[in-house]
Amino acid sequence: MSQPLLEVKGLKKYFSVKSGFWGKEKVVRAVDGVHLTVYPGETLSIVGESGCGKSTTGRCILRLIEPTEGEILFQGRDIRALNAAELRAARRDMQLVFQDPFASLNPRKTVGQILLDPLIVHGIGTPAERRKRVEEMIEIVGLTRQHLHRFPHEFSGGQRQRIGIARALILRPKLVVADEPVSALDVSIQAQILNLLKDLQREFQLTYLFISHDLSVVRHISDRVAVMYLGKVVEVADKTVLYERPIHPYTQALLSAVPVPDPTREVKRILLEGDLPSPANPPAGCQFHPRCRHCMEVCRTTVPPLKEAEPGHLVACHLG
Ligand SMILES: Nc1ncnc2c1ncn2[C@@H]1O[C@H](COP(=O)(O)OP(=O)(O)OP(=O)(O)O)[C@@H](O)[C@H]1O
Ligand SMILES: [Mg+2]
Repeated sequence: MSQPLLEVKGLKKYFSVKSGFWGKEKVVRAVDGVHLTVYPGETLSIVGESGCGKSTTGRCILRLIEPTEGEILFQGRDIRALNAAELRAARRDMQLVFQDPFASLNPRKTVGQILLDPLIVHGIGTPAERRKRVEEMIEIVGLTRQHLHRFPHEFSGGQRQRIGIARALILRPKLVVADEPVSALDVSIQAQILNLLKDLQREFQLTYLFISHDLSVVRHISDRVAVMYLGKVVEVADKTVLYERPIHPYTQALLSAVPVPDPTREVKRILLEGDLPSPANPPAGCQFHPRCRHCMEVCRTTVPPLKEAEPGHLVACHLG
């Protein structure tokens, strides 16, 4: 296999939060030892319940927030060790597409200005070249040059996400972290945006880290899938392997809740008992053990490492 584009090793992000005005400080272990490898040209998706640390992982990778611990190697270089100028250069290669395109687009700027800004900030091209690139990019994402003169509020949700994607791609990045990019959209529009992302990946040889809680969306877009639970990656595999032969009891439960397109194949729904525990007070041992159907004694005391169950299929489970 080729060299990874991105390698994340033992990533941790802890937040200190106060519970109430008089409350004591608590530490929220939003990300608690995440390992990920992303290869050039692939789409690796991160799935998991709300609050399991998906967005925090994505934000640490782009260094939008400072990780507490761990290594983030982008093209072999630890981005945590970069100085301000080096980080700015690296940012050209790593871009983010947000869940809510409206909140992430400056309402006072025209779409043309929004797309021009990153080129100016990074000092790319002459004014004429920049204009050409902006005009090309708006058409690539399925809008027209006339749209460049309009403001974000004059667009539909799907169109706004197209603008968000154009802004992310205008610098020709290598890695795009897409955090729930279609969650705010109608189902019919979701498919259009997912297909656009796929087309753009082919055209620009992009690598995607795709974050979503929606397993149907993930199935559509991914090459490989990483499942997160309470700040940790618990299983990683090729999409088909993961959807057909999940090993971790958490992945099995998660997938059993997805409607199956083939009615002859009945999948018994596994109901997860209890709520997702708080990352401020995670269970000892395997963090999934209080909700696990197969919990053994060792699970209560020892954290299972993420290890290879079969080639390319990693699982963090004492059974696996
Ligand atoms: N700035 C912050 N300060 C304190 N706690 C935070 C902060 N950001 C996130 N958290 C906490 O960290 C945990 C993980 O949050 P994160 O946003 O990464 O989850 P997520 O998997 O993206 O969830 P969702 O699917 O709802 O977007 C949550 O418990 C959240 O409350
Ligand atoms: Mg999130």
